[in-house]
Parts: sequence; structure tokens; C-alpha cells
Amino acid sequence: MNKVLLYCRQGFEKECAAEITDKAARREIFGFARVKEDAGYVLFECYQTEDAERLLREQPFDELIFARQMVVVGELLRDLPPEDRITPIVGMLTGAVEKGGELRVEVPDTNEAKELLKFCRKFTVPLRASLRAEKILLNYESAKRPVVHVFFIAPGHCYVGYSFPTNNSPFFMGIPRLKFPADAPSRSTLKLEEAFHVFIPADEWDERLASGMFAVDLGACPGGWTYQLVKRSMMVHAVDNGPMAPALMDSGQVTHHREDGFRFRPTRSNIYWLVCDMVEKPVRVANLMADWLLNGWCRETIFNLKLPMKKRYEEVSQNLAMIDEKLKANGINAQIRARQLYHDREEVTVHIRRIWGAVPGRRDER
Ligand SMILES: C[S@@+](CC[C@H](N)C(=O)[O-])C[C@H]1O[C@@H](n2cnc3c(N)ncnc32)[C@H](O)[C@@H]1O
Repeated sequence: MNKVLLYCRQGFEKECAAEITDKAARREIFGFARVKEDAGYVLFECYQTEDAERLLREQPFDELIFARQMVVVGELLRDLPPEDRITPIVGMLTGAVEKGGELRVEVPDTNEAKELLKFCRKFTVPLRASLRAEKILLNYESAKRPVVHVFFIAPGHCYVGYSFPTNNSPFFMGIPRLKFPADAPSRSTLKLEEAFHVFIPADEWDERLASGMFAVDLGACPGGWTYQLVKRSMMVHAVDNGPMAPALMDSGQVTHHREDGFRFRPTRSNIYWLVCDMVEKPVRVANLMADWLLNGWCRETIFNLKLPMKKRYEEVSQNLAMIDEKLKANGINAQIRARQLYHDREEVTVHIRRIWGAVPGRRDER
């Protein structure tokens, strides 16, 4: 198996391809990305067969921005015979995976492919039984063993391969299923909730999303992001000239500032979270976030960078590099991650966590 299959948002195949080509090359893994516009996935074909698995092991999935899932696969299985689709799939996996811990039969996240999902659900049951009989899958689910993926791009046509549970998305199709809370003021509430799931390990929620924390929400109206913070019993300074949802204001946990988010300065020194969903040029938002971190006005931040139509991977990379440089130049240690979330459209979500302690070799002068 010499290909790495990456699932992505439909319309972002070029960005996903540019990113994997760039990040693979930094590991001296060379190949080329096959891009089909609007396919909802990208294939990165390695020149050296063994490099596909090396890339899967060495490229941290968390550091990919545009990929929702990362799987090693072989050649496309075409025209599977309807009377026996299982044998060719078992054949492809034999020798490649042993004692897998889970089976996911998936499709690209496109309208056309959605039709196939019903079939996938039904097909999973007999396929799982056969894979278990062949010892390609264990007889029980295990989160410690490789995940077997069968990815149908059309009826009878699929890629088959595996991912590692320590370096993949834990979600079916790479998409966390979140339920829209009926009392939230806007659908974008799901972006922040998804960001929490993606960026903050579940066992750290009690500490890092704790009740009583103070938060600032820039570009808060009507309050979908503020809602997430209020739900976790935080006190929120919501900054926006527009109106906030009355039910949020009635919670008694929100102070509304009708101000420009670029001029707003915190009035307290114990703000833990800064979140920002202002529709603005990415470079302006990135600079503002860097300033908050440099000044020690927050500990963690989650913000969206709204992307231009062209060179979107380059735009995100440049802004992240700029923030990284600024922080390092000031002796600030931080963990920076970005992801195009399922609930993001023409944008990516960035998470930065300030970690106490200076960057090695630099003096913290503040
Ligand atoms: C996408 S909406 C935010 C939606 C919000 N996160 C939610 O979940 O309901 C963007 C908001 O940013 C606000 N905004 C844009 N530029 C701003 C600025 N310079 N200062 C404050 N708010 C700004 C707009 O008024 C708008 O309400």
C-alpha cells in the first residue's frame, strides 16, 4: 500500500493536497497528490511504497489543518461484483493488517456519496464477520489496534486500508456528531463545541473548561460561542456592537460590551479564555490574538481565520508562522494548532495554548 488517503471538506482538496505535499516533503517523503475537484478526499501517492506507512506514523495527525482523516490505502478496488464484494476487500487487507480493532465503512462527505451510506451501514455487518474470521479484525472492538477503513467513492468502487488509533481521527468519516442545542442562539455554537472536542483532551476538560473561569468573546453576537462558555458556567465578556440573545443575558453570566473587538482591552487580569469569531482579514485577527497572548491577557485562545478564495493553505500557514515567531521572539512557549472543522465553511479554527516557561535559550523579559 503506497498511498495516503486524506478525507477533507468538499472544495478544499487543493488545500489538503498542498498541505500533505509540503508536510511530507519536510520528512523527506516524496510523492504526488492526486486531486479531483469536489471529491471530498485527496490521495497522496508515495514514490517509495514503505513511505505511506512512515508518513502515517510520523506525521502527527493533529498537525494537519485540512485533513479530517488519514489512512494508508492500496489501489482502488473497481467494479466489485455485487454477489461477492467481500473477497477482494479481504484480499487487499490480507498481509497488510492483523487483529484490527475496529471497522469503518465510510464515504466522502459529499451529497452524491451520502446515498451510499445506507449501503455502507448494511455492508459493515457481513464484512466485519468475514474480517474477523480471517483474523484481520479481532473478535472484539479495541481502541489500541489499527482501524480498518473501507472508503466507497462510488457503488462498487472503494479504497481499503488502515489508520492508527494513536494518530487518526477517532470519529466515523472524521466527523464528530454533535447535536445542535435547541436553546443556542446560532448554529455557529457547534464550531466552538467541536473545537473543544478536537483541541482539548476529554480528561482535561474539568481543568481547562472549568466552571467559574473568565472568558472574552470577540465578535460575540448573537451569542452561539458565548452560549458554550455560559453552559460551562463561565463568566463571559461578550464584545460586539450587535444584540446578544436575551436568554444569555438573563443568565447573569454575561457582560455585553458594545465595542470594537480590536480596541477592547480586558478589565480583569484573570481571563483564561479568549475566543474570537469576528469576520475580518486573517492577518488582522492573527495579530490581535498574538497581542493578547504576548500581553498575558489570556491563557488559551480559540479563533477563526476566515479564508480568502485563493492560496488558502499558504494564507493560514503564513499567519500561524507569524504568530509563532512573535511568541518565540518574546520568550513565550505556546502550542499552536489549527483545523478546518466539520462545522467550519470558508475558514479554519485555531487553538493556541500558552504554556508557562520560557522558550529554551531565550530570556522571558516580561
Ligand atoms: C460570525 S458572527 C459571530 C457569531 C457568533 N460567534 C455566534 O456564535 O453567534 C461575527 C460577528 O462579529 C462581529 N464583528 C465583526 N467585526 C467586529 C469588530 N471589529 N468588533 C466587534 N465585533 C465585530 C459582527 O458584528 C458579528 O456579530
